[in-house]
Amino acid sequence: MCGIVGYIGHRDAFPIVIKGLERLEYRGYDSAGIALFDGNDISLSKTKGKVEDLRSKAKEISQAGSLGIGHTRWATHGVPNDVNSHPHYSNSGDLVIIHNGIIENYESIKQALKDRGYTFQSDTDTEVLVNLIEEVQKTEDVKLGKAVQIALNQVVGAYAIAVFDKKKPDEIVVAKLGSPLAIGVGENEFFIASDASPFIEFTNNAVYLEDEEMAIIRLGKEIKLRKIKNDAIAYPNILELQMNLEEIEKGGYDHFMLKEIYEQPRAIMDTYRGRLLADQGIIRMAGIDQNIEKFVNANRIIIVACGTSWHAGLVAEYIFEDLARIPVEVEYASEFRYRNPVITDKDVLIAISQSGETADTLAAIKLAKEKGAFVFGVCNVVGSSIARESDAGAYTHAGPEIGVASTKAFTTQITVLTLIALKLAKEKGEFSQSKFHEYLSELETIPAKVEKSLLSNDLVETVAEVYKDSTNCLYLGRGYNFPVALEGALKLKEISYIHAEGYPAAEMKHGPIALIDEQMPVFVIATKKGHYEKVVSNIQEIKSRKGKIIAIVTEGDEQVKELADHVIEIPETLESLTPLLTTIPLQLLSYHIAVMRNCNVDQPRNLAKSVTVE
Ligand code: G6P
Repeated sequence: MCGIVGYIGHRDAFPIVIKGLERLEYRGYDSAGIALFDGNDISLSKTKGKVEDLRSKAKEISQAGSLGIGHTRWATHGVPNDVNSHPHYSNSGDLVIIHNGIIENYESIKQALKDRGYTFQSDTDTEVLVNLIEEVQKTEDVKLGKAVQIALNQVVGAYAIAVFDKKKPDEIVVAKLGSPLAIGVGENEFFIASDASPFIEFTNNAVYLEDEEMAIIRLGKEIKLRKIKNDAIAYPNILELQMNLEEIEKGGYDHFMLKEIYEQPRAIMDTYRGRLLADQGIIRMAGIDQNIEKFVNANRIIIVACGTSWHAGLVAEYIFEDLARIPVEVEYASEFRYRNPVITDKDVLIAISQSGETADTLAAIKLAKEKGAFVFGVCNVVGSSIARESDAGAYTHAGPEIGVASTKAFTTQITVLTLIALKLAKEKGEFSQSKFHEYLSELETIPAKVEKSLLSNDLVETVAEVYKDSTNCLYLGRGYNFPVALEGALKLKEISYIHAEGYPAAEMKHGPIALIDEQMPVFVIATKKGHYEKVVSNIQEIKSRKGKIIAIVTEGDEQVKELADHVIEIPETLESLTPLLTTIPLQLLSYHIAVMRNCNVDQPRNLAKSVTVE
């Protein structure tokens, strides 16, 4: 939540910071702001709304300066308005700050500062922090870096901050706890950002700050890293990034979401490339190979995640129990972390997260580690906090996912988790070599089958046209496709603001059936493999109550065609792999409905892609 960008160097900061904010808008988009410093004067502009609103508003200020910081906000403290937008000045006007996170004890600090004569323009915790830094500077007579360090030792909460001081035109100080912060290192220039996308066209070299680290970034000098708590020197680990510019642009699609839906064949292939060696009959995954005993001897696997990643976890529960015969529990990270869970050193905890930054998931893995569990991360963003905190892990290799509604992250997470389950099934002797081989070969065909499923796009668009004005929708599935029903409903809610519920098909008769009338569209996943006859009975029940039935079926299906108002076909595959295909038309459906309702597909209201607050 919230994106931060900064630049100090020899170029004009304005275009870099604005472009960077546009790339980080997925992190929050209710207000935006920028501060520029030309060595003499600071010019600051901020506004409620999006970065494009800021672009227009900033025409009123001087755009000069080769030091700049910017912020795109997802409001926590204080409503989204111009005043609460970042950056924030200190009372003297010398310090300027941007902040992603929450200062939990800001009320008491604010009161203490008020008692000393400070005044506040905004309702934000951030304005309190910048004034606390100023107060420390004054009372302790220290430079900016030291003042930031002392101030941060007094706050409770989470932060990624960047702050500069008018008296120090060649310096920006940054610090991190809980929220991500990357520093791009160029030739006598530095970039600061919540992720590397704002600076990837300028440099591939990046330093990711660890929690409780701060850096003094000074032109002409090496980055100085310190531990915030004990002042110990830390040494920057400069990583060479693999990301390229093309991956973070729309590439001819109207929306990132559509691009990402269409990228799935490639993303799934990239996820199993080098791991799935069907001709040799093996799966090679370093993180599993090196810890195989932990998995094989685990009492159970606990999966923690949020949102779409939680749905991938639910699919994984079916896969692990069905194929590898290991008991699995799937938990919302936010519930798990606060319910005093029973965890032992015989448990393996798998954390699933696209961003690798979700605060609740991060907290859940820290708790599990404390209790001695082995923690395995399944993340998409390389070098992210969850990836770093985990004992071992496997990346999904989906490439950057920018649309707030997750699509390719979901299918690539399922791909990684399937690989792990298959590997464990083989290791535990649950699978013969021939059965193992059958699964590997089938998994290899999935990208082509996803490609084929995408051919339903035009048909899905016509279905979307029929149901775009619905106020409620029901999604039903059984077994492996129950989580897909949940995910289908979530996608529709997120981007088209239509109320939708996912249900296990058989549970319908325990409540949701009361909602069914001729106005209610019911999306039913009714693939041949997977409780087909039972789902057909559920379809009959809907039909006899005049509900509208849109069924996702296996190609060539005749029986459901007789009953349903619309059928959308997907290719046949093994039951455990069907979620990788059934989810495709549901993603497309949500996309088209959202476009038809004029919704902001890539940046739905009130949401953010990376939820770094709990
Ligand atoms: C947010 C996003 C969702 C995502 C969830 C978990 O709510 O809008 O798309 O599924 O966070 O994010 P993660 O990065 O941990 O997968």
